[in-house]
Amino acid sequence: MPFQAVITRFAVAAAMMLSVSVAATAADPAGEALAQAVDKGASLFAHETFGGNGNTCETCHVGGGKVPGMAPNGKTLPSLLNAAAIYPRFSRSAGQVVTLEGQIYQCIRGGLGGTPPAAGSPDLVAIAAYLGSIAQGQVVGIGTVPK
Ligand code: HEC
Repeated sequence: MPFQAVITRFAVAAAMMLSVSVAATAADPAGEALAQAVDKGASLFAHETFGGNGNTCETCHVGGGKVPGMAPNGKTLPSLLNAAAIYPRFSRSAGQVVTLEGQIYQCIRGGLGGTPPAAGSPDLVAIAAYLGSIAQGQVVGIGTVPK
């Protein structure tokens, strides 16, 4: 492909990406609220201990949950890349079907030894929004296997 054509294609793609991201933020208050929830969730994921033992989500689910993690006992954990696409699932540790929020709640209590925020609270919603954002484009299949 001639250099000129490559540059033109790049410019068109960049303009399309720009218009999509603008549509989802400044021009659209709902999109902006969602983007803020995702950002807040990413920050909580990396830094928040919920008053527990000092662990954060990142302690076990490294790399923002986008790559395989590791439990304190050395056990490899699946990434959380498609977590938001595969819940509700049966949780062996809970002995019942849990939602994504339920699993987050369980990890805050168990993994962080912390006090989970109430269901539907901004913090729990933000973490779920963050996990939804990294699962964008993953195949939805409740009860299927983590990546
Ligand atoms: C001390 C380690 C540890 C910490 C810290 C931890 N988790 Fe987990 N997490 C696990 C383990 C172990 C599992 C495997 C399922 C189980 O046994 O509950 C898991 C599973 C999950 C899953 C389900 C993955 C899947 O695809 O089935 C999600 C979602 C999750 N954790 C989110 C979080 C979030 C969000 C935080 C922070 C609030 C967090 N975890 C903190 C250990 C941890």
